[in-house]
Amino acid sequence: MSLDQYGRRIDYLRISLTDQCNLRCLYCMPEDMSFQPASHLMQDDEILRLARIFAGLGFTKIRLTGGEPTVRGNIVEIVRALAGLPGVREVAMTTNGVLLQQLARPLADAGLKRLNISLDTTDPRKFRHLSRWGNVNDVMAGIRAAEKAGFPIKLNAVVVRGVNEREDVVDLARLTIDHAWQVRFIEMMPLGRIADFQLNHIVSENELRATIEAALGPMEAQNGGRLDGEARVFRLPDARGTVGFISSVTNPFCAACNRARLTADGKLRLCLLRDKELDLLNLLRGGAGDEELTALIEKSIWYKPWGHGLAEQSYPTHRVMSEIGG
Ligand code: 5AD
Ligand code: SF4
Repeated sequence: MSLDQYGRRIDYLRISLTDQCNLRCLYCMPEDMSFQPASHLMQDDEILRLARIFAGLGFTKIRLTGGEPTVRGNIVEIVRALAGLPGVREVAMTTNGVLLQQLARPLADAGLKRLNISLDTTDPRKFRHLSRWGNVNDVMAGIRAAEKAGFPIKLNAVVVRGVNEREDVVDLARLTIDHAWQVRFIEMMPLGRIADFQLNHIVSENELRATIEAALGPMEAQNGGRLDGEARVFRLPDARGTVGFISSVTNPFCAACNRARLTADGKLRLCLLRDKELDLLNLLRGGAGDEELTALIEKSIWYKPWGHGLAEQSYPTHRVMSEIGG
């Protein structure tokens, strides 16, 4: 079991499989984003070797992220291998959904347990604007394919001031009335060279709740108001599904954080919003053995930062979101 110095049990590993993406969301990356050469990224066997070490340290949950994890070659085989590791109870994925029409079923068959699908608006024109390149019909078809393959549906929406903070938020929340889905609204976080844009266009949870309740009626807190993972969850009147809020900026969940992250280029990152990293891939390629890697990982986890520094205007500068995986 892996503990940090504050007594938090760290057992959830998020692995970014690639920094590439088939979209270019405004809040995630600059349009002229440049990507790492493939040789800098973890190869399949390197991912497996590191994941096995983490599993040995008591990590039970793995989430695959990107960029966009489904654009990585061999994605189904990677899922199958990770799902088969001793100690790993759950492999999940966060995806933009564009490729799920083809992939939902094979991923389910390979042992994937959960899918979070990003959907910031159901309006085709706005979706194109926000994602720069995308077609919302692909995502909607992807959601249907995921449902058909038996996945519980969680949708993630990042809200951007002046783009999708009103009707779009209401339309997304309304989906939970007829569908047993969870629609989660995520406060935009500042990272890298687009931090100024992000900070200037953030919409807070309080404002979003007021917008939704004004249109659709009062929401009832679920779980006695406690966090469900990282989200605070509510239910609209007579709704089959739920509405969640992930408010990393105005209401951080750092005290309950159980996460570690591996970037696509093989660096261990203990806080999404702090730049400090340990270059595991370089150590591994330099010949480090499993015992040495295990000891270094344990030590880094012990020193996991207490929380992010947004309240003190401290933002990560080295990477944007797509290079870490959210
Ligand atoms: N703040 C919060 N969430 C973000 N995502 C991408 N960029 C940001 C940001 N700046 C989300 C995506 C997706 C996941 C990969 O991260 O919408 O749900
Ligand atoms: Fe791609 Fe997701 Fe970033 Fe959008 S938010 S550009 S879909 S990685």
